[in-house]
Amino acid sequence: MNEEDECLDDDSDKDLRSLLECYAHHCPSNQTKQWMRYPGGLSPEDVQSIVALKEAALENARSSGIEDKIQEFRAFGTYSDPEVDDMEEEEKREIGAGHIVTFVHRVFASHLPENLVSRLKDAALAADREGNWGVGAFGFRNYSHLNVRCAEIIEYNVSNPGKYKIDGLGVHADSESLLTVAVALQEPDEYEGGDLNFQSQCTNTSTVPRPRMGDVTVWPSWVKHAATPVTKGIRRIFVVEFWEYCTRPEQREGGRPGYDDEEDIIANCMSDSELPPLREES
Ligand SMILES: [Fe+2]
Repeated sequence: MNEEDECLDDDSDKDLRSLLECYAHHCPSNQTKQWMRYPGGLSPEDVQSIVALKEAALENARSSGIEDKIQEFRAFGTYSDPEVDDMEEEEKREIGAGHIVTFVHRVFASHLPENLVSRLKDAALAADREGNWGVGAFGFRNYSHLNVRCAEIIEYNVSNPGKYKIDGLGVHADSESLLTVAVALQEPDEYEGGDLNFQSQCTNTSTVPRPRMGDVTVWPSWVKHAATPVTKGIRRIFVVEFWEYCTRPEQREGGRPGYDDEEDIIANCMSDSELPPLREES
């Protein structure tokens, strides 16, 4: 019996979350890649439209009176220096452990080319198939079952060290999501450092080659990853996380909803009982 069978066979009533938890701690024999890269997945025009989302999100937030909720400094994950882990957020900000995130989920549907998010979802599902990560095996090949949980523009910035001396992100998983998609918004010669690496139990740590503008990188959201410090310039990425619930992103005021946030998992979204059956045949 391989590890994949072990996850499925020891409790046939496992729900999706339990199975993914099992996959995160076992190493299915056919699961070898922890990330997939699609070079040139998006065009320069696509990237331009994504970059413009930031200002659109800020303008939308201002006109909605929620400008204090749509952009924030974040530092999370486990840092290689234990002293950083023990710091208060303000201290982390001062030494540059973290990034600025702008939540763009309120405006992406109205400001991006119509099929752009669909193409990112296609990339996510293709990566899942190629990487044997198991999300599709649980019935999520069905296009309608995978929804945007959050859409964020993330900036690691050392160009203004007095204000935002930001330099990295600790080891973490994108917990509660299924598939994460990242789009590079600039060329690799525009910054130094900022390398994405994965720290799965199933493979050795792997560092993803620095992406070119428009390159799309996909990973299973439960695989642990981190970004090395940006040492020069600004690194900007667009991150979309997909999950099985929908959340009315255009009406949400805060950031990423939680799995148990009933306020956000609402009408017209699937309940657990409506989720696709395990091992649904395609
Ligand atoms: Fe992440």
